[in-house]
Parts: sequence; structure tokens; C-alpha cells
Amino acid sequence: MAAVVFESGKNVDYAHDHMKGVKDLLDAGVTNSVPDKYVFPENRRPSVAQVVQGESIPIIDISGLDGSQHERLQTIQSLAQACADWGFFRVINHGIEESLIGSMLDVAHQFFLLSSEEKMKYGNRDVLDPVRYGTSFNAKVDQIFNWRDYLKHFCHPVMQTPDNPPNYRDVAGQYFKETRKMALKLMAAISESLGLQPSYIETVFREGLQVGIVNFYPGCPEPELTMGIAPHSDHGGLTILFQNEVGGLQVRHKDHWVAVEPVPNTFVVNLGDHLEIVSNGRYKSVEHRAVVNAERTRISIASANGPALHALIFPAPQLIDETHPPLYRSMLYGEYLRLQQSTELIGKGNLDLLKIPKQE
Ligand code: OGA
Ligand code: NI
Repeated sequence: MAAVVFESGKNVDYAHDHMKGVKDLLDAGVTNSVPDKYVFPENRRPSVAQVVQGESIPIIDISGLDGSQHERLQTIQSLAQACADWGFFRVINHGIEESLIGSMLDVAHQFFLLSSEEKMKYGNRDVLDPVRYGTSFNAKVDQIFNWRDYLKHFCHPVMQTPDNPPNYRDVAGQYFKETRKMALKLMAAISESLGLQPSYIETVFREGLQVGIVNFYPGCPEPELTMGIAPHSDHGGLTILFQNEVGGLQVRHKDHWVAVEPVPNTFVVNLGDHLEIVSNGRYKSVEHRAVVNAERTRISIASANGPALHALIFPAPQLIDETHPPLYRSMLYGEYLRLQQSTELIGKGNLDLLKIPKQE
């Protein structure tokens, strides 16, 4: 086997270091340039020119959902607008303690500072394994690697976490419980905004799978050549994301990208593929991506809320009639999740596989 030379990033022996995370690569001395494996072709690089200035995602004050009937209806209207126009919005007055968010960021960071051996206890696992550490998106199939390490773990129905850091389980337990509560409240409101029973979508998610995803994007020597996470839509219903003070998230809006700046104590919510299916296309899942930067480590924490793995996913029957035929065929959510997690990120390509061709 060829010797591993770390001075120049271009010579790293990937046959050997295939699964090594970006953090561990940097620790091993790859600091001057981005190894070839991470270099995106020019037409897929995150050019600054594609990012539109002066636009931002809508802001929703969700305390209105617990207010008077009038306040609740007004909030639902703003939500409906945000879901239809953007599929992405910022949530304020959510009631989650800022100190809990801080502790969560802290334990998340601590996890990635553990030794490679400790993290690899959860490495090389199946995409449906309840606790999984990895790099890129799916290092087994990715042709080009994303500049990203991640930890994914199931949070509901059963909380499963890594053993270390020792307080991870306690902090993540509280954090993901709170974000799930927020997700269910939003689902009820989104049901109503579609003219469904308030409980329709919420029920679909009540026994559902919640996955906690911790993304770790270390500073990158040549950020313009690579991507933190390539454009994709999320497979579930609603994703609730918190990003630390280092920006990088971008959302596709019409034909351009809009940066979602970090704002303290606010969450970013986006609609995933499953909600597009349930709403029979009234609302759309939205493509997003994350770019990296030269100086600072970016951490984001996503709470991905979907239905149960064994649930069949299909458009709500109440939203189907002669003028609105079903646009998606049904599939088991577990199957859809496996499909999405086993392929390289391809925008919304996985959802296309479920689309029913239009009858002329
Ligand atoms: C994700 C994701 C974006 C970010 O984990 O699915 O889109 O800002 N993350 O890290
Ligand atoms: Ni995502």
C-alpha cells in the first residue's frame, strides 16, 4: 500500500483513509489545500455570484399559535404563506431556553473532539442504524466528498445516543424533546393551513421517527472549491435547524440561492419531501445546501421529523379530487429514507421517483 503523505493534501492515501472524517484529516496535518476528493466540478461549486443579496426567509412568531383564536388564525395564515412561497422560515418566540441550545451546541462540539477510535465506534453503519457517525453524505457512494462530518441518532420513539461525551444523552434528550414539541405544534398548524383537520398531519407524525443530526464543518483551506453539504431536500416532514454563529446555510428560492444568516436564539424550519407528498404538492420541499469558510468551524443541529419507518406515505385523501389527482405514489417511509440516504445528494431527485406522470 502506498505511503500516506500528509504534508500536501493531494497525496493522502484514500484507499486507506476512505472513511476518515474531515476533522481527523485536519488533525493528521492536511491544512494547506483541499484534497482532490473534495473538489467539486466548476459548475457545481458554490459561486458567490449565485447568491442574491437583500432577500431573506420569512419570520414567524409562533407564540401566536398559543394565543387568542384571532392570533392563532393570523399565525396560521403567515405560516401558509411562508410554506407556499418559500418552504423555509425562521421561528421566533419559540419558548426553548437559550441555555439549552447553548448546551446542545457544546456537547455536539465535544463529540467531534473525541478520538477517531471513539467516534468510529459508530462509524461504517447501515443508514437505518439508530446511531451513526460519518463523513460527507454517504462516504460509501459519494463520488465527491462534502467537507462535513456528522453524527445522526434516533430521538423518537426511542432516544439512542453515543456513550460519549458523558452528558450528551441528557442534554440531547432535553433538546430534541423540545424541538419535537415545536415540530408537532407546527404540523398541527400546517394541517389547518391546508384545510385539513388540525390533527391530520400531526397524527401522521405522532408515532413518527425523529432523527437528530449534528453537522460539523471545520474551517476549510479552499472553501470555494468544495461544499459543506451539496444541494438536497430533506426526506422527512419538517426539519428544525439551529446553526451556530458561523453562517453557511443557503436555500434555493425560485432560480437563485439565498443565504440564511445565523440569528441568535432563532430556529430555521424547512419542509421536507414527506410534507410535499402529504400535501399532494400544495407545499414543496425545498433544496438547500451549506457552504464552508476558511476560518471557523460551523456546527448545525437538525431535528428531522418524519412519520414512522413502517408508515405508508401518501397524499392526504381530502386533498384529492377530480381536478387534483394524486401526484405521488405511496411508499413505506423507511424505504424512502433508505433510498434518500443511500444515494449521492441529487437535489430533489429522489422525490421525482415517486411522481406519477401526468395523464394527458
Ligand atoms: C442537513 C442540512 C444544513 C446545514 O443536515 O440536512 O441540510 O446548515 N444541513 O448544516
Ligand atoms: Ni438538509
